[in-house]
Order: sequence, then C-alpha cells, then structure tokens
Amino acid sequence: MPIKIAPSILSADFTKLGEEVKRVEAGGAEILHIDVMDGHFVPNMTIGPPVIKALRKVSSMKFDVHLMIERPELYLEEFVNAGADIITVHAEASIHLHRLIQQIKSMGVKAGLALNPATPIEVLTYVLQDLDMVLLMSVNPGFGGQQFIQGVLPKIVALSTIIAQVNPGCLIEVDGGINTDTISLVSRAGADIIVAGAAVFTKPDPVLAIKELLAAAE
Ligand code: DX5
Ligand code: ZN
Repeated sequence: MPIKIAPSILSADFTKLGEEVKRVEAGGAEILHIDVMDGHFVPNMTIGPPVIKALRKVSSMKFDVHLMIERPELYLEEFVNAGADIITVHAEASIHLHRLIQQIKSMGVKAGLALNPATPIEVLTYVLQDLDMVLLMSVNPGFGGQQFIQGVLPKIVALSTIIAQVNPGCLIEVDGGINTDTISLVSRAGADIIVAGAAVFTKPDPVLAIKELLAAAE
C-alpha cells in the first residue's frame, strides 16, 4: 500500500481553518490529523469537539483524532458525535488500556494507540490484535514544528515486523518532525500514514507541499 500523508491542522491558520481543510482535501488528502491537547497530558492546549463538529460540516476526509489528553474515556462519546473516524489515545494516559480500546471500538470508530518516543513497543503486546492503528510519536507530543527524533526509526522497523505477524491490517502512523528530509526514513522503516503539520501548513501552497513530501518519500 502506498503511504499516505495526513496533514495536521495544528500548524494551519486557525482564522480560516475551514478553507485550509477544504484546500488540502481538494488537493487529494484523504486523512486529516486533528491534535487535541488538554494542558495536562501535554503542556499545550488546542481544540476540542466543537471545532471538529464544525469541520465535519465542510469535509468528508477521514478525521484522525489524536487525543493528547488525560482521562480520555470521559470524552470518547463527544469526539465520536463530533465526527471522528479514528480515535487515537496515548498508552501513557491510561492504566486500563484494554478497556479503553474496547470502548473506542464499541462506539463504531477505529481505534488507535499512540506511544511517546520513550515508550517501548512491548506495551502493545496484549492489545495489538485489537488495534486498527499504532501511532509512533517521533517528537515529544505538545507542539508542532519540532525536530524529528532519529531514535524512533528502529522502533518503526521492529513494530512493522511484529504487526506483519500479529495483525497485518493494523496501520503504522508516524507523527512529528516530518519534512522532505525525514519522510523517506520513516517510509522506508515501515510507516503507512505519515503526519505532517509544519511541513504542509506553513508552506505557501500546502497542496504542493504534500506532493513534494510524497515525492521525497519514494
Ligand atoms: C505534536 C502533534 C503533531 C504535530 C506534528 O504533538 O501530535 O501531530 O502537529 O507537527 P509537525 O509535523 O510540525 O512536527
Ligand atoms: Zn498528532
């Protein structure tokens, strides 16, 4: 399967968010990465269900909602009702991961699990078979525009080997620090979906920026 770029709206111009989203969709993007931060799990705050609900009215892209929040179980229903297609929670944010993943799936959306750069993939051992996606963070979550952490590359390689054996339908998403220099490293390591924020939305032409990223990935 060819890799897909999921543009992250974190670096978009929030004064014209609807237009920014429509623009990348018209340019061929199929997945929109939406970063939700609560100021507790990560030292930054972004947006929540009302903004996702508003975007849902102007876009039919798959909404890939990355929850960087504590107590995610309290808000799942709101995010589903707002229009999420994939909900990704952080392994570090729950002591009841199995239950949390089942809760997401029971709501009829796809379930993703995100791992911070320092979190070993062993945490996936008993839940990988239930997941639709694993998100490997290649920066410490909280901010756009950070530098790619090279140390995550062997983690992507190791995870893709395990996924091929345990749950071949499960996708690997990599998030943070992706640009035309780093994208080939993660695509070669085994990423299926690659998130790009600053490398798309700080560029004068985000659609062209996505095409350049795809070209650099090959
Ligand atoms: C970081 C977020 C990312 C962020 C990536 O905490 O999870 O999705 O938007 O931004 P870039 O691509 O600029 O590193
Ligand atoms: Zn993200």
